[in-house]
Amino acid sequence: MINLIGDAERVLKLNWRNGFTIPTSKLYPFQWNWDSGFISIGHSYFQLDYAIQELESLFSSQWENGMVPHIVFHSENEKTYFPNYDFWESNVNAGAPQRPKSSGITQPAVHGFVLENLLEKFPDNEKLIAFVKAIFPKVVKYHRFLYTYRDPEREGLMFIFHPWESGRDNSPLWDASLDRIVLNEEDLPKYERRDTSLAPSDERPTSYQYDRYVYLLQLGKKYNYDGEGIFEESPFLIQDTLMNVALIKSNQSLINIGKRFGMDVGELEEWQQQSMSRFKEKLWDSSLQTFAAYDLRGGHLVPHKEIGGLAALYAEIPTDEQAEQLNNYLQSLHTRGYYICPSFDVDSPLFDSKRYWRGPVWPQMNWMIYYGLKKYGFEDTARIVKSDLIELATKLGYYEYFESQKSLVENLSAGYGGSDFSWTAACTLDLIKEDS
Ligand code: GLC
Repeated sequence: MINLIGDAERVLKLNWRNGFTIPTSKLYPFQWNWDSGFISIGHSYFQLDYAIQELESLFSSQWENGMVPHIVFHSENEKTYFPNYDFWESNVNAGAPQRPKSSGITQPAVHGFVLENLLEKFPDNEKLIAFVKAIFPKVVKYHRFLYTYRDPEREGLMFIFHPWESGRDNSPLWDASLDRIVLNEEDLPKYERRDTSLAPSDERPTSYQYDRYVYLLQLGKKYNYDGEGIFEESPFLIQDTLMNVALIKSNQSLINIGKRFGMDVGELEEWQQQSMSRFKEKLWDSSLQTFAAYDLRGGHLVPHKEIGGLAALYAEIPTDEQAEQLNNYLQSLHTRGYYICPSFDVDSPLFDSKRYWRGPVWPQMNWMIYYGLKKYGFEDTARIVKSDLIELATKLGYYEYFESQKSLVENLSAGYGGSDFSWTAACTLDLIKEDS
């Protein structure tokens, strides 16, 4: 059996780039926003300094409007990635830093809860305390960006205008919104994908989807990535579950941190109260018995069961009764021979246990759901979520994501997507260490 702890250290050090960590070499050679949060937790087990630098370097890319971009291109010589900084052209926005270059969209706001997690691990470490105090206003500014630019009607729920912002790039959740985009050849600039030459194409998004990703990127660019035109024009406009879960969980963590250090948390408390109640009343789909994203353009819930709805457990959003329903659902998947949690509804014709966000198991999602289940006292299911991830990592290695059907894993010797993957190492490690 491989030494999972030693291997996690190896992967995190391998991907460390003198100040920040890449998710994996080749496929993702830069710094990614929400990856960095989980990676920081991983580093803290070996080198707290790395954990701190990881977040510092991410926030060095923060825009004047408060946005923290989804990719930070610390190196401008790395040519194996599309869309690279020259395609994003983030300098269309005067408040985007000249360096490091960045993308023009964001990702789940995990940083507040990551800071609280680090403080729980090292409550008296002076260097960490000084760092948390210094970065706190920047994280609040990021939340203020989300509540200002992404919630123009002041509902308490932020929207996304690109699937990549959700962290769940090609989830079937986005299919109907993407189908609204009817493209003629002249609507798109010429571009060349790089991902399908680095990973098998049946594990990646299709070219139909990719064209629409590029279209939405161009739409964002047209409005300097923060203009009102995005809300008015984007055919893709979604109040996503996971995005709002991360925001709500991080609000709460920032409130807890702020209170400990005597900082003003009034604004955070207002956001939190509104978001929590709006999420509960607007995003529960009683026929599916789960939380669902809301399609602002179409004016309806996105009617699918998937991992973002389950993640609501992590921010303690569900009532006890709703939590029970989510827990029963997870138990039934386990009984039916799935590693929990598959990223999409296994009974849907859109389920694909191999293709990225359409069905595989994702480590950082298991991590959130594990802690969420524990909060509600579902110890047995939490234990399965944890041991499923540990089993997958032991059998297959620290891959980006994993086959979710047990009967298929029996004949596999590898996971899917990139190998030696940073957040897989970090999250698995944290779950192993958590109760030891
Ligand atoms: C993929 C994932 C996204 C992640 C990125 C880097 O785009 O969908 O969630 O942040 O890879 O790992």
